[in-house]
Amino acid sequence: MNLNIVILAAGQGTRMKSSLPKVLHPIGGKPMVAHVISSAKILKATKSKIIMVYGHGGDLLRDTINDTSLHWVQQAEQLGTGHAVQQAADQFEDDAVVLVLYGDVPLITPQTLTFLFEAAKDDSLAILTMFVDQPSGYGRIIRNSDSQVLAITEEKDAGEAEKLIKEVNTGFLAVKAQLLCGWLAQLKNNNSQGEYYLTDIISLAVQDKVTIHSVQAETSDEVLGVNSKTQLAYLERCYQQRQCEVLMQQGVTLIDPARVDIRGSLTVGKDVSIDANVLFEGDVILGDNVSIAANCVIKNSTIASGVDILPMCHIEDSKLGANCRVGPYSRLRPGSALKGDNHIGNFVEIKNSIIESGSKVNHLTYIGDTDMGSGVNIGAGTITANYDGANKHRTKIGDNASTGSNSVLVAPIEVGAGATIGAGTVLTKNAPEGELTLARSVQKSVSGWARPVKKK
Ligand code: UD1
Ligand code: CA
Repeated sequence: MNLNIVILAAGQGTRMKSSLPKVLHPIGGKPMVAHVISSAKILKATKSKIIMVYGHGGDLLRDTINDTSLHWVQQAEQLGTGHAVQQAADQFEDDAVVLVLYGDVPLITPQTLTFLFEAAKDDSLAILTMFVDQPSGYGRIIRNSDSQVLAITEEKDAGEAEKLIKEVNTGFLAVKAQLLCGWLAQLKNNNSQGEYYLTDIISLAVQDKVTIHSVQAETSDEVLGVNSKTQLAYLERCYQQRQCEVLMQQGVTLIDPARVDIRGSLTVGKDVSIDANVLFEGDVILGDNVSIAANCVIKNSTIASGVDILPMCHIEDSKLGANCRVGPYSRLRPGSALKGDNHIGNFVEIKNSIIESGSKVNHLTYIGDTDMGSGVNIGAGTITANYDGANKHRTKIGDNASTGSNSVLVAPIEVGAGATIGAGTVLTKNAPEGELTLARSVQKSVSGWARPVKKK
């Protein structure tokens, strides 16, 4: 079966009070319309075609979504949902089933969409409805005494009795292209809003004796749309809860699933534990037995098994080998690679550096553009001075070297294997292997020296 999927995304979204087109506002770190596109792409069809109906901000929309497989059609003036679908009609293929989706209803699942288009296969019209306690704002589903669908009446056109109906239209529908095109051509805008309503195809289907199936979504958040920042925040939470549910099904311990955010993809091993207020961005991979304590931000990083991340760490574009211990208060900037069994402690910043296994950087240190061997111990307050004001230079530290507190290693420079650097050293020449190197003034005491006194 061929699927022609129309995604309506022409509305301006005035109530978002933003210059960003509504459908580009993010849910889980990605534009809400991108969620709809992803779900559309998962659907199993012989062939499918996705048609985006856009209005305002077309260039920005296209550039942001950046997907050449989509077909874009412009709806220059927003004359109603029926008019919007009409704009896509040229793109419909003869025996395809058309599925209408919404760029601002991001959490619809492939499963619900599958139920919907399957129900339209036999030349029926399939609509997705829901039951709500507060139906106001929605189109009402009008049924006859045999409970067959007769029409959808918009709130603004509904009479008092119709307004009491609690079964409402979600907007999602599926129907064969030929049938749809015939009905679209007959739409009129003689209603209270002066719009071409897509919902008017329902009574046209009834006239043509086409069977109408109604389908319901499994959860209500699937069919909720975003018109305001409040609704955006609500669906963000629903989306995060869904992801946390999947993680817990995979065996992850989430101390509080309401306080974890995943803006991207999180891949996990066995016995992973995540404490409160942890934010994942981009692609993050966690191995077996990884433990992440409270208040960490982890972006585009791979963390091998047995790694223990203590509270308040910020880790970005980094690779952590097995059994490292990082934090509290560590910052791993892009290009940090810890090979395994490393300890990175508080107020330590690491950038674009490779640290071989077993080396420790425990306190108050900056390691940048460095190749560090294994078994190294970096003393508190060690700084690799990698920037000369114009260029960055690398520092090499051999296996089992040790730096004393407050050492400055002025790059480009090399500390030999097994070398020891005395505390307070400003190292400007390479330190030879196995020796103690000191570069600081010799200690002296001045006898008879007195502190200055205040002039009267
Ligand atoms: C629509 C339905 C209503 C349903 C409700 C569910 C119609 C006539 N009414 O009402 O039955 O209960 O959705 O939320 O279909 N759009 C365009 N171009 C347009 C008009 C709308 O692309 O010219 C897009 C909007 O961006 C939005 C969607 O279509 O994504 C729905 O439009 P909206 O104006 O919000 O429809 P409702 O009045 O809420
Ligand atoms: Ca709406």
